[in-house]
Amino acid sequence: TITNVILTGGVGSRLWPLSRKSLPKQYLDLFDGESLFEKTVTRNQSFATKTIVVGNIENHKMTDAIMAKFDTTFTHIVEAVPRNTAAAIAFAAFASNPEDILLISPSDHIIEDGKFYNEALEKAIELANENYLVTFGIKPTKPETGYGYIEFENENVIAFHEKPNYKIATKYLKKGNYFWNSGLFCFKAGKFLEELQKQEPEVYQASRKAWESSKNGFLDYKLSLEIPSISIDYAVMERSKDIKVVPAHFAWSDLGSFESVYDYLVQRNYPMDTNKNIVIGTLMHTTFIGVKNCILVYTADALMVLQKENSQEVKQVYQQLESIA
Ligand code: GDD
Ligand code: MG
Repeated sequence: TITNVILTGGVGSRLWPLSRKSLPKQYLDLFDGESLFEKTVTRNQSFATKTIVVGNIENHKMTDAIMAKFDTTFTHIVEAVPRNTAAAIAFAAFASNPEDILLISPSDHIIEDGKFYNEALEKAIELANENYLVTFGIKPTKPETGYGYIEFENENVIAFHEKPNYKIATKYLKKGNYFWNSGLFCFKAGKFLEELQKQEPEVYQASRKAWESSKNGFLDYKLSLEIPSISIDYAVMERSKDIKVVPAHFAWSDLGSFESVYDYLVQRNYPMDTNKNIVIGTLMHTTFIGVKNCILVYTADALMVLQKENSQEVKQVYQQLESIA
């Protein structure tokens, strides 16, 4: 069995005003009239024989509405409170047979499917069957500090380094034998749980307890609060010795900020003016005078103009607005 495990926990606050708590970016029709969530289901349909969606209580109706469009049955695991990716993936693993191959797919990334994606997946499944935890490596283009770095030698992983600081990331880029971690993973359910139990027994125990008393996939609030909040990257990937990396030759973006949205669009010949300014969300005639590398974002209730290099600051705007709302 190959199971597509779709993670849909995030808010995507750095893409405000496009994305927000009531409508996180994976549910938006950002590209060609289809949400990123929908694309994530479609992309893996030819591989997966099962689908498990792990998401939070705030989004579960939106998830059900999208899944209703597909002719597939799926398991819906609904978190009472987000406890990060180590726990989210553990729930999916508890809901599976130990020998099942899980393909962990963030629901909020844009990934080009096709030949390169299929080839990478086939290779990953092969390695997962040999009991490895498989990551997908992206060739880095800048010292991004929001990603995990995979230090490699051929397909062997020397070490995994989650979110290094700028100085260290710069060093990694110079050295050359580092990939970005794409956030997609592939492994046997049993192998993941074995590693989690070894590296983070507390997360393993608390997740299992919460899972065992869940009802129809809905997790209990109180028991969920007992689970330490830690990502799979820190909990397992940085510590495990059984990791392999498959180089990803497909186009990928986690659309984590407007800068990454910008880079992605520009690579795909999105319209821009001579000063590299772009407009998202409206066909209204827009003129930029005397400014460069700006992004104008237009929605029904908010307008934002930002310098692409300042994209990380959107999160603070969102937090401020959230606190007064
Ligand atoms: N269900 C559920 N519950 N999903 C969650 C939770 C949770 O508590 N927390 C996060 N997720 C989902 C997010 O929606 C996203 O799709 C995925 O898990 C990854 O979480 P992020 O919070 O976006 O992680 P990140 O961007 O900081 O870092 C990860 O992704 C990078 C690439 O985009 C790491 O894996 C990095 O190593 C990697 O480079
Ligand atoms: Mg992310």
